[in-house]
Amino acid sequence: MHAQIEDLRQRASADIGGVRDAASLEQFRITYLARKGAIALLFEALKSVPASEKPSVGKALNELRQQVQSLYDARREKLSTAGAAKRHIDTSLPPRRRWVGSQHPLTKTLDEIKSIFIAMGFAVADGPEIEDDYHNFGALNFPPDHPARDTQDTFFLGPTTLLRTHTSPVQIRVMESMPPPIRSIMPGRVYRNEAINARSYCMFHQIEGLCVDRGVTFSELKGTLIAFIKQFYGPNLQYRFRPTFFPFTEPSADIYITCFLCRGKGCRVCKQSGWLEILGCGMVDPNVFRAVGYEPEKYTGYAFGMGIERIALLRYGIDDIRLFFENDVRFLEQF
Ligand code: DAH
Repeated sequence: MHAQIEDLRQRASADIGGVRDAASLEQFRITYLARKGAIALLFEALKSVPASEKPSVGKALNELRQQVQSLYDARREKLSTAGAAKRHIDTSLPPRRRWVGSQHPLTKTLDEIKSIFIAMGFAVADGPEIEDDYHNFGALNFPPDHPARDTQDTFFLGPTTLLRTHTSPVQIRVMESMPPPIRSIMPGRVYRNEAINARSYCMFHQIEGLCVDRGVTFSELKGTLIAFIKQFYGPNLQYRFRPTFFPFTEPSADIYITCFLCRGKGCRVCKQSGWLEILGCGMVDPNVFRAVGYEPEKYTGYAFGMGIERIALLRYGIDDIRLFFENDVRFLEQF
């Protein structure tokens, strides 16, 4: 009897190693632990064991049953945790994406422009988006009947309050707040009552520049803006200055660069001219100095202004200005 018990113990501990799933575990239970299993049969046989041996055989049998039961329990536990782990980790799922924000293309463009001028000694200033007629037009030497005051272009909020149509009024505010010398750039939003389409929007951004001191010349204007253009657009670029008119500068110029889309051959973007206009500039008109109380005989200065959207559109090859303001993540995350 003892030999049979020992034999069963060895078979059970060998068999449990082969149990890998619920079905073979159940088979193990039926073979050894069930009501008609091998251990139950030995208990059956215990009845015919001589009375003197019964206590020791009974004890050995009880130990066997406990051992096999705990082999069974341990294996069942292991299979169920393995199963649970399997259910929760699906290695075929794509990993969860970590969302990292990105800078708006206009912010990126503006930051680059700013850093070039800051390196040349310009300070950054700003002014209000709700302006008055005087700062937006009058002090900038716009005659009272100038067409730019037309309600077609300007959002009026009251008889003399309006949303600024350009960043040039910040020039006036900076000069009103301090005496020369001044070397400032002034970025910000501007508003124009224009039909919204792929090329124009009712709100956009400009960056203004102003330098005022004794003896500032047109050569300095050219030197500074050419240095900017070379850093921003690349050193081997062609550029040209063309005379134009602004009420607040005299003389005035528009700066053009070779169209970098067609390299000057002529395309839809440059309207077949081969040139792209990128900024307006000029020597501050003496009337502007008079408006802010600077002596025009003592000081000269230059000013410039450019549109950020236009630069960013060209730079990133975007064909619709509205994309900048729709806040569509699929667009924004590409920058
Ligand atoms: N304010 C002009 C505009 O809105 C841009 C501009 C041109 C600004 C020449 C200037 C300048 O300071 O000198 O179109």
